[in-house]
Amino acid sequence: MREDILNTKNEALAQIMDTGSQDELENLRIAYLGRNGKITQAIKNIKNVSQQERKSTGEAINEVKNAIETFIAEKKNAINKNAREWFDPTLPGIKPKVGHLHLVTQAIDEISGVFEKIGFRRVRYPEVEWDLFAFEGLNMPKDHPARDEWETFFVDSPENAKFGKIVLTPHTSNGQVREMKRVKNPPIRMINIAKCYRRQSDISHVPMFHQFEGLVVDENISIVNLKGTLDYFAKTFFGEGRVTRLRPYHFQFTEPSFEVDISCGLCGGEGCKLCKSGWIELGGAGMVHPNVLKAGGIDAKKYSGFAFGWGVERTYMMKGGIRIPDIRLLYSADLRFLTQF
Ligand code: PHE
Repeated sequence: MREDILNTKNEALAQIMDTGSQDELENLRIAYLGRNGKITQAIKNIKNVSQQERKSTGEAINEVKNAIETFIAEKKNAINKNAREWFDPTLPGIKPKVGHLHLVTQAIDEISGVFEKIGFRRVRYPEVEWDLFAFEGLNMPKDHPARDEWETFFVDSPENAKFGKIVLTPHTSNGQVREMKRVKNPPIRMINIAKCYRRQSDISHVPMFHQFEGLVVDENISIVNLKGTLDYFAKTFFGEGRVTRLRPYHFQFTEPSFEVDISCGLCGGEGCKLCKSGWIELGGAGMVHPNVLKAGGIDAKKYSGFAFGWGVERTYMMKGGIRIPDIRLLYSADLRFLTQF
C-alpha cells in the first residue's frame, strides 16, 4: 500500500508536468484530489490497512497529497505566467490615459480670455494678506461690523503697526488697492483671479474657492462703463442674448453698490422653474469708493472707477447649467467626478 501511494505521487507529477492548460490541470486535480480521486480513495481505504502499517501509510498519503497540491499550484502559476507573456503584435495597443485641466482651471482660463480681449490685464496678489489690503484699505476700519460678512481666517502671528493682522484673503478685492499702488497712474484695467478662504463648509460652500475681480480706474468712468462691461461679459461668456441687471446693495468699498444678476438662459428673463424671477444672481459690483482710491494713492478728484467680484466656481457652473449636488466634490480629487468635464 505504501509503495502504491508513493508511485501515485510520481505518476501524478509526470501528468502534471505534461499539462498545457488550466482545464487539463483541473481534470488532474479532480482525478487525484477530487471526491472520488485516487488520494481521497486511499484515505478512505486506510481503515483496511493493518494496525502496524496504518501510521506509516497515513503519513505517506499525507505527504503525497501535499506534494500533488504543490505541483498543481506551481503548474497553475506557470501556465498563467506563460499566458501573460504571450504577445500578439496584431492586437490594437492600449491607449495611455490622457488627463485634462481641472474644471476650475478651465474656468479661470476662459474668464481671463474674455477680459483680456477688452484690454484687462490678469494679475495675482498674495493669498496670505495684510488686513490693510483685505479690509482697512477697502474702507472697513478695524472693528467695522461689515467685516463680519467675510468669515475670515486669521493667521496666528504678531500684528504689524501699519499693515495690521495677517489673514487668508477672504475676497479678491485685496487686489484693488495693491493694483492702484502698483500702476500709480491710471488707466487701470485689472482682472485679479485668486483663491479665497472663508470659514464655511457645507454642500454649497467650501473653505477655499476662487473669485475674479475686475477693476477699472480712469478719467470719467461711470456706471455706464460698468454696465457695458458686465453686459459684454454676459454676452461673451454666457452667450448671445444674455444681459445683466444691477440691483442696489451695500459694500463699504463701492458707492453706489450693486448686486449683479444675469438674465436666465432658459427663459430669457420671463421667469421659469429654474430661475423663478427670470434673473440669476452673479455677484457684487459698484463704483470704487473715494476712500479706496485714496488708500491706493489715486487722486479721487481726477479719477473714478468701477469694480466687481464674483465666484469662479459659481459663474462657471451657471454657464454649463452644471448642477453639482455638493460643491465640495470639486475639490475631492475624485476622478470619477472630474473626468466628466
Ligand atoms: N468683494 C465682494 C465679495 O466678496 C464682491 C465685490 C467686489 C463687490 C468688488 C463690489 C466690488 O462679496
